Amino acid sequence: MVKIAPSILSADFSRLGDQVSQAIAAGAEYIHVDVMDGHFVPNLTVGPLVVEAVKPLTAAAGVTLDVHLMIEKPERLIPDFARAGADSITVHVETCPHLNRTMQQIKALGVQAGVTLNPATPLVTLEEILDEVDLVLIMSVNPGFGGQEYIPASSRRIARLRELLAERSLQHVEVEVDGGVGVHNAAQIVAAGATILVAGTAIFNSQASIAANLTALRAAAAG
Ligand code: DX5
Ligand code: ZN
Repeated sequence: MVKIAPSILSADFSRLGDQVSQAIAAGAEYIHVDVMDGHFVPNLTVGPLVVEAVKPLTAAAGVTLDVHLMIEKPERLIPDFARAGADSITVHVETCPHLNRTMQQIKALGVQAGVTLNPATPLVTLEEILDEVDLVLIMSVNPGFGGQEYIPASSRRIARLRELLAERSLQHVEVEVDGGVGVHNAAQIVAAGATILVAGTAIFNSQASIAANLTALRAAAAG
């Protein structure tokens, strides 16, 4: 069964704890935190302080606190995010010349290690690291902002990644998809091979409650 990872990027930060609690009560398996540095991506968001603030809520519910680092030189801040309570830390291949070392660094801190890549970065850049990762995140928008359109070619990338993992008997690796996910495309993204759907605006918007949005997304994902 596919897992849902609400991205707090689209939450109301004046009521962040309440919004995260609502998402957890509605059955979210992950809470996704988008960390942006204003360098690797044009936007600037949150740091370990916010991860630490959300941690008691996720920990009490057994929900995975999933941290997506869109920052240059992530190795400098990985220990801080681990200390703050991240259960999973994902870095971009574009920011890690020593990706193997970075994966070891994350795992040595007792955190699940994830790797991701921009929509135009070839999947083959992951080939040598797949044995070392717990999670691969396929970016289905150019990172930096919520509320963008899903890039259709992403579905083919998800399917190719699934094939690569199967060839290597690495089916346990989670395949997470991030950007433009909603009720209109969740079924085809899952059919392509996703096991975790990140959703920001599809969950946190003014059209319906967080619970209603999450239920609708889960139903859509089930096909
Ligand atoms: C984009 C972020 C995404 C984003 C998804 O850089 O990594 O997690 O919040 O937002 P939506 O679901 O609105 O596309
Ligand atoms: Zn993200």
